[in-house]
Amino acid sequence: MKIAVLVSGSGTNLQRIIDAIEAKEIVGAEVVQVIADRNCYALERALNYDIPTFIVERGKEMSEELDELLDSDVDLIVMAGFLSILSNEFCSKWENKIINIHPSLLPKYGGMGMWGMNVHKAVLENNEKESGATVHYVTSGVDEGEIILQKSVEISEDETPESLAEKVHSIEYEILIDAIKKLTES
Ligand code: GAR
Repeated sequence: MKIAVLVSGSGTNLQRIIDAIEAKEIVGAEVVQVIADRNCYALERALNYDIPTFIVERGKEMSEELDELLDSDVDLIVMAGFLSILSNEFCSKWENKIINIHPSLLPKYGGMGMWGMNVHKAVLENNEKESGATVHYVTSGVDEGEIILQKSVEISEDETPESLAEKVHSIEYEILIDAIKKLTES
């Protein structure tokens, strides 16, 4: 399975994928491209493993540019902290071949503007007792595609957005790897 990973940030989920493949937790898969919508640390992580990297320019033509950059034989696109919204055409073309990791228990706290720390702040403002992470297929409805895996974490009384982000990150690493395994084995 040839995997392309889309990133925008520090790339800890990307690192986890690379580590899981190296450790043979995921068998028969390879990260063949890492594509970012901005200059970010995730690109450095990819370069450490000689994985080809690319940057697409954010804006109207981004999805088309991305589509041109993707190897035609890519089997799976993983959005691992990719913060741009992809066009309907792009989502239809890659239907069932593109997944996303989201830092909440979808359908709660999904959609436009719900990313990264915004999610954790909103969860705490609403006095939720639990949060979590979700891996789902990507469709044209933002964060609305079919859920592949989801896992929750308890929120403690003294939780801060930062501590919640840390908790959620650690379960993201678990479910993202399990989801990729599930897809490579299916
Ligand atoms: C992750 O928490 C991921 O769930 C979130 O960005 C972070 C990226 O971390 N994605 C979204 O909010 C997408 N809506 P990473 O760069 O360390 O993998």
